Amino acid sequence: MRHYGVDPEQNTVHGGAALASLKRAGLDSVFELLEGPSHLMLPKLLERGVVLDLAFIDGWHTFDYTLLDFFYLDKMLRPGGVMLLHDRSWPSKQKVMRFMMSHRKYKELPVHSSTRPGFFKWVHRVVAAKWHWLRGAPFGVVTSAIANRPEIAAFLKLESFEPDHRFFRNF
Ligand SMILES: C[S@@+](CC[C@H](N)C(=O)[O-])C[C@H]1O[C@@H](n2cnc3c(N)ncnc32)[C@H](O)[C@@H]1O
Repeated sequence: MRHYGVDPEQNTVHGGAALASLKRAGLDSVFELLEGPSHLMLPKLLERGVVLDLAFIDGWHTFDYTLLDFFYLDKMLRPGGVMLLHDRSWPSKQKVMRFMMSHRKYKELPVHSSTRPGFFKWVHRVVAAKWHWLRGAPFGVVTSAIANRPEIAAFLKLESFEPDHRFFRNF
């Protein structure tokens, strides 16, 4: 098993926190950090012929960077593999999910929250929603915080597919 992580800030902003966790868990020997932005690091993995069973997109959250993450990871993910995407309620992520479903062959998998919220969890949700609201977050982000909808989206890759070069569909 190999585990690749891409992060331009792991050893600077984050002080190596993820690397330390992996070491504590005894998983550092199978892990490789690519230290740089994903639009430069993912093509390197692709060039090396890496094939992935699972991919997780949670880097720079704008539409353009997320779409590039998806584009490269899709080329490496094997059919039957799973693509995970965090912050699904963000408009930028929703746009990428629409691209996935209109331009590639994926099937969305159900994701359920495993915990039943107690009183303090409810208070925490309301505070989180207000925090997002005050910072002008999109409506979907605020309602997701209140409903505590899982922010992870999961997609099964049905087959390796790219449309013909004349293809265009709005998404
Ligand atoms: C929202 S955090 C998520 C981290 C991790 N998935 C987690 O749940 O703890 C986003 C991560 O993306 C990294 N990042 C920032 N810009 C990036 C880029 N251009 N390419 C890849 N990762 C980036 C940040 O350093 C940060 O570690």
